[in-house]
Amino acid sequence: MSYIAIIPAAGLGSRMGYGKNKVFIELDGKSIIERTVALFEEDPNCTGIYLAVREDETALMEEKLSAYPKVKGVFAGGRERQDSIYNVLKKIPESDHVFIHDGARPFASRKLLNEVYKAVITHKAVICGVKVKDTIKRVDGATVTETLEREELLITHTPQAFDYRLIMKAHENARREGLAVTDDSSMVEALGESVYIVESDYNNIKITTREDLVIAESIIAGRGESK
Ligand code: CTP
Ligand code: MG
Repeated sequence: MSYIAIIPAAGLGSRMGYGKNKVFIELDGKSIIERTVALFEEDPNCTGIYLAVREDETALMEEKLSAYPKVKGVFAGGRERQDSIYNVLKKIPESDHVFIHDGARPFASRKLLNEVYKAVITHKAVICGVKVKDTIKRVDGATVTETLEREELLITHTPQAFDYRLIMKAHENARREGLAVTDDSSMVEALGESVYIVESDYNNIKITTREDLVIAESIIAGRGESK
């Protein structure tokens, strides 16, 4: 048993406002994408890493990732995250399980990867997430329409892990039905399949805006990591 990792890294990073793809931003001398790829390179259960990248960044990405032998393919992404993942799914070899993990999420712990892996062996679809700390309200413009029950809410992270055939079927169904979603689990949910939840941790941030860079630096400093 083993798994293949798909890493979508073909975004624009528009909310970061960095002028280029945020996954190339360096944190303490090492780019976000290298940090993310290293998580899977170092996981003995992972047998291959496949990325979705922006076409004009293919050469740069290949060069950055040349030191990671598990990287077996770098493919052109698509307009939306789900298009990028589908483009890669079509090209990877058949495998038992597929992990999908954001290129911009470099702090997933080994413990989390192990727990998600253990879970996907018995459950065909697994996501991870953390409890909501704030109170979340549904709104209509500037008016509150509902206060949601905090205990019923989950902030979802990646990795999300799936049985290979199930995630293929879910993406194909989403394309047929024209579903636009922001995570892969939603497509599996649309098939009526149940999705198992593993607890993530608050350090597993997706680097999205400028403030996240400060948090990222402090996570790295807190680990006492040296270059
Ligand atoms: N992604 C992708 N293909 C897309 C859009 C996003 O592969 N068409 C990837 C990003 O590179 C990122 C991950 O999906 O690693 C999560 O997306 P997000 O955080 O939204 O990144 P961006 O889309 O790059 O950022 P923004 O939405 O601010 O433009
Ligand atoms: Mg995006």
